[in-house]
Amino acid sequence: DSISAESSGCRDIAKVMKDNNKNYLVLYASQTGTAEDYAKKFSKELAAKFSLNVMCADVENYEFDTLHELPQNVVVSFFVSTYGEGEFPDSAVHFEDFLSNADEGDLSNLRYTLFGLGNSTYEFYNGASKKVLEHLKKSQATLIGEHGLADDGAGTTDEDYLAWKESVFEALKDQLHLSEHEQKYVPSFKLEKLDAISDNVSLGEPSLQYLPCNSLSFNSEGVQLGPFDLNQPYVAPVVKSRELFRAGDRSCVHSEFDMSGSNIKYTTGDHLGVWPSNADEKVEKFLYAFNLSPETIFDLKPLDSTIEVPFPTPTTIGAAVRHYMEITGPISRQNFGSLVQFAPSSEVKEKLQELAADKDQFSIEITSKYFDLADAVLHLSGGAKWRTVPWEFLIETVPHLQPRYYSISSSSLWEKQTIHTTAIVESFPNPAGEGNVVGVATNLLKNLQVLQNKGDTKSLDVHFDLSGPRDLFSDFKLPVHVRRSGFKLPTNPQTPVIMIGPGTGVAPFRGFIRERVKYAETHENSKLGKHLLFYGSRNLDDFLYREEWPEYAKKLGSTFEMIVAHSRMGPKKVYVQDKLLEREEEVLSLMNAGCFLYVCGDAKGMAQGVHAALVDILARGKSISKEDATEMIRMLKTSGKYQEDVW
Ligand code: 2AM
Repeated sequence: DSISAESSGCRDIAKVMKDNNKNYLVLYASQTGTAEDYAKKFSKELAAKFSLNVMCADVENYEFDTLHELPQNVVVSFFVSTYGEGEFPDSAVHFEDFLSNADEGDLSNLRYTLFGLGNSTYEFYNGASKKVLEHLKKSQATLIGEHGLADDGAGTTDEDYLAWKESVFEALKDQLHLSEHEQKYVPSFKLEKLDAISDNVSLGEPSLQYLPCNSLSFNSEGVQLGPFDLNQPYVAPVVKSRELFRAGDRSCVHSEFDMSGSNIKYTTGDHLGVWPSNADEKVEKFLYAFNLSPETIFDLKPLDSTIEVPFPTPTTIGAAVRHYMEITGPISRQNFGSLVQFAPSSEVKEKLQELAADKDQFSIEITSKYFDLADAVLHLSGGAKWRTVPWEFLIETVPHLQPRYYSISSSSLWEKQTIHTTAIVESFPNPAGEGNVVGVATNLLKNLQVLQNKGDTKSLDVHFDLSGPRDLFSDFKLPVHVRRSGFKLPTNPQTPVIMIGPGTGVAPFRGFIRERVKYAETHENSKLGKHLLFYGSRNLDDFLYREEWPEYAKKLGSTFEMIVAHSRMGPKKVYVQDKLLEREEEVLSLMNAGCFLYVCGDAKGMAQGVHAALVDILARGKSISKEDATEMIRMLKTSGKYQEDVW
């Protein structure tokens, strides 16, 4: 039996390539799994069309000192995500070190392609992949094709990828003298079906993906063992949850997670990653569409040591679909197209080929209807099941469920062991189809909230199996982990602060204000700087934590002021940026006094609107040009005095 490269311990990239007879290398640096997905898609297609022997790996798992030793005919394709302020993903720290330490000419015999994943609503757009390009240029490696840039801000990641891929494939065919044949799926795993459930069959427990799968991380008393992090979420009891408001289709859930058994420390302003599972209805539809039986027990054996098993096995098909596969949400045109080889009839095949080749038609018929994969295939086949899609293929093609991140709305000074989150439940009528479009994690939180409070389950759009495997999800528990953020109050409480956060953007500011209240209670004679909070909601119904703010104001006195913009109460929309302009003089004088500015919420409209208002205020107040004011704000960002937590 083969073992994974990681457990065999070899991190020498050239050696692993050679030992496994690989002739193409795809490397990814991924934060939330997007770069990983594209790297895997790219690898699969290279193998399926050109019969290349592709190794696809996370940069985290290898050392690159031998990169220059790869044979001349090996091309390396990099997929690099940008995170935060133009930074590399956490997993790429030593990869970045390697690149920045490479000397001129060090990689002169390396040929590579580069695809960056970024978001143009952020300032340092695609910063990490641009750094890769710069370093590789310096070390005199040769770029094949163009530096691809995907822009999630424009919502075009998938199309950007496809356009880039087409041109890179042409360039590769040319340089490597490849001949293309019809796609033929080459599995990475051998699938073994097993007979009976036994103790080491995983049913979806959030145990470690990368530990030997039968070493469940629980002690003999059934207590989960740490340390807990992204690779091993803590299954935390949701001790309290309540609906902050419900108005029409919209509602917002406040949840409180008890972290006391975990030893996890968080600080105010961090994020909580919540690990969702899929709703019953979605799991059933997926199983139906692909004619799968949830009880089937299977094991996956990688076909060579460079391949990692994506989730703990042996497991059941039902558990894998429910807990590990991202079966809802938009589908990529590429994944869709790769199903051609398994179409149930020649008519369906033809229709699928047409759709996969035509981006506009795909958008009209699939994306704009909010079809997920099961919807889309059933739509094409007129509701008939697709019986011949190999289960391994689905495992390799459907992206894996990723944690959803929420800005923590509690203060670690006030509640050390409890983490609060504030989430708008995503659920809206499908504008082009039937039923509601529902978000996975927020509806799971809503289910918990309703069931825990013995509320009316008729308000639920989807249902989740909360009995969970071996009681892990029972008693309203959910797997979570803390993600550190740089979104932090100034250490000196006398420094003035301006916070701007409409909607659920107010979440971290509730944490900030609770932090200051706690501080004020424990430091009676010390003074606080001015804390101005700009908040926005449609009207009074969706005014979050409306009853709490006056309490905070009572405790903080004149050092705290909340300014509210209601967008749908008067004849004209009023937004937080309008309120900033109304308070122009005060905002300016706080900025002159060196205040910290924080913006949280919607990245596109809101954060840009706020930025524009602040540029205006600075330009007018200091009699400088807008360009200079923009530059001043850029400097504030660099020095950490203007911080954004936007999505
Ligand atoms: P609207 O939906 O009435 O347009 C929280 O969602 C609040 O943010 C709502 O009052 C919403 O207003 C408002 N909002 C929507 N777009 C915005 C933008 N571009 N800038 C600032 N606030 C915005």
